[in-house]
Amino acid sequence: MDTLARINELRKLLNTYNYQYYVLDQPTVDDVTYDVLMQELIRLEQLHPQYASASSPSQRVGGEVLTGFGKIKHSRPMLSLANAYRLEDVRDFHHRIETALTSKTPIAYVCELKLDGLAISLEYRQGQLVYAASRGDGAIGEDVTANIKTIKSIPLEIADLRTIEVRGEVIMTREVFQQLNQKKIQAGEAMFANPRNAAAGSLRQLDSRITATRQLDAYMYAIGNASELGLQTHQASLDLLRSLGFKLNPETQSVQGIDAVIQFIETWAKRKQGLAYDTDGIVVKVNDLSLQQQLGFTAKTPRWAVAYKYPPELVETTLESVIFTVGRTGKITPNAVLTPVHVSGSMISRATLHNEEFMQLKDLHLGDRVLIRKAGEVIPEVVQVLPAMRQENPRRVTMITTCPSCLSPLKKMDAQHFCINPNCPAKHMEKMIHYVSKVAMDIKGLGEKIIEDLYSLGLIQTIPDLYVLEGKKAQLLLLEGYGERSVQQLLQAIEASKKQSLEKLLVGLGIKEVGEKTAKQLAQRFLTLESLRKASTADLLALADIGPVLAAAIQGFFQEVENQRIIEQLMHHGVNTTYLGTTQTIQSPTFSGKTIVITGTFSGFSRPELTKQLEAMGAKVTGSVSLNTHWVIYGEDAGSKLTKAQALGIQTMDAETFLTILAKEKV
Ligand code: IVH
Repeated sequence: MDTLARINELRKLLNTYNYQYYVLDQPTVDDVTYDVLMQELIRLEQLHPQYASASSPSQRVGGEVLTGFGKIKHSRPMLSLANAYRLEDVRDFHHRIETALTSKTPIAYVCELKLDGLAISLEYRQGQLVYAASRGDGAIGEDVTANIKTIKSIPLEIADLRTIEVRGEVIMTREVFQQLNQKKIQAGEAMFANPRNAAAGSLRQLDSRITATRQLDAYMYAIGNASELGLQTHQASLDLLRSLGFKLNPETQSVQGIDAVIQFIETWAKRKQGLAYDTDGIVVKVNDLSLQQQLGFTAKTPRWAVAYKYPPELVETTLESVIFTVGRTGKITPNAVLTPVHVSGSMISRATLHNEEFMQLKDLHLGDRVLIRKAGEVIPEVVQVLPAMRQENPRRVTMITTCPSCLSPLKKMDAQHFCINPNCPAKHMEKMIHYVSKVAMDIKGLGEKIIEDLYSLGLIQTIPDLYVLEGKKAQLLLLEGYGERSVQQLLQAIEASKKQSLEKLLVGLGIKEVGEKTAKQLAQRFLTLESLRKASTADLLALADIGPVLAAAIQGFFQEVENQRIIEQLMHHGVNTTYLGTTQTIQSPTFSGKTIVITGTFSGFSRPELTKQLEAMGAKVTGSVSLNTHWVIYGEDAGSKLTKAQALGIQTMDAETFLTILAKEKV
């Protein structure tokens, strides 16, 4: 047999075994047989790279390491679903449909479990998986193709040559989640809070070999372009997907009328506990695609579907004690320490008590039996005390009056207590923990534990001290679990953080209310920390997401002496304070591909900065106005260039309009 024929034979065999094992859950060969064939395929493909194929089963082990995810614009937006929290809401949904539709035949619905994972869109062309995108903001998602290929229940090839957009949910089963967290504990790493987060974290790995080890699974629930493919019902889409080898949820059911829908919901309220994966509700979809089309969409959600959400699980446990934590802003939060219990798929041993009023309202006493709940992503919360089960002479839980860290008196502002000591150790420690975190400067190897250790050894006190650790290598080597290599790695990671782009630094500095999205906007608009510091209120308000409160917080931040000191020292240590992002931005409808002339002066912006921004959007910035110029953007004191543009009839734009468009169109 020639090599290509053997390669094809191996691919076919491995695809079949994969399908039997991961989709049908009916393996026909043992692991060793599978591995031997896979090794043979990998070897043949390495020896004969001319036969490589992106759809080969060998691609599932993961490979190249990315530096970031590309963006993919969805061919149709990935919408979300309207939620229904009561059965009544589901009946209302049905009545709205009955009223909207003229036909009086009973409405056929498809009821599906709402799997708690991540939505993905898979595009197949000519029978090949060409890309996989995460949902993102619904319009633009991330290119996660390499990682999706490691999910063995997703076919890389299908026996249908049409362009088909398949949608579904990537999940992690409860069992895989537990095992993964066990490994995390052993490695001393932070655990995932629930299977959904674990699935998200696994799908967002830049190294697909890591994703491959995470045993993700995926269930498909729709075809994006079903009508274009001539399908008439949602059930027909599901049938087509099944026949093409996709994994579909076996619990899906086609029903007639609303009573059957309600019955499906009630049945699964009890049964869902026994599933291998988390479900947070039931999705009800109108089956007939032409009816779906008639019903259409609201701005965000289809009118032909609804997601019924089961009420969050309430679990009883004991309040053992209350501890008070100090946040990086000095905010004091009381936390209930509970006897650990399982709630909605996670082990819970802490719950927030928010503030003094909340504790008083709940009338909490030590040793109380309490009901706690955890709804989705929300932090666990104490819902209610069970006073009938209260112990004798219980001790009431009260608010503290001094900071648990520095003992200075607390100040009450609105409902919250704050430690206002600018030198409070706990505040500084929290600030450092935030500074090194993934959303901020992302310094690998510097987690909460090591920051605490370094702090208690007196090696670091405030953020800039991280950059002098280099000179304290001998002391670092004394840390438990640290050797020459790990210390070296740690110092390298700290050094590397000096090259982070401005938006990461802005998050790291912990300006109140400035999260990743705002930081990015600020960095892209102001380009340097210095020009952000000098920005006027008007400059700040010109940005899409910034209102007066945020603008004041940003300005207030730069006015504080301690913050000035930190910034000065960071700069002294060589930390980058400029925006380093480049052309990876989305095309701007107004400026991309256009020839632009800038004239006059702009407050808070230098001309080179503006030019860089425009070029990043694919515009060409030239020095003189001609008939080829598309736009002349003018600031204050614009002179002859503006006059010439007007004479030639070229479009002009003032600084304010320009900044508004810039803020709106840049991502
Ligand atoms: S249909 C236009 N079906 O729920 C509606 N979604 O809030 C497209 N989900 O982002 C979604 N199971 O991640 C649909 N059987 C199911 C689902 C499901 C889970 C998720 C999906 C989506 C979210 C909608």
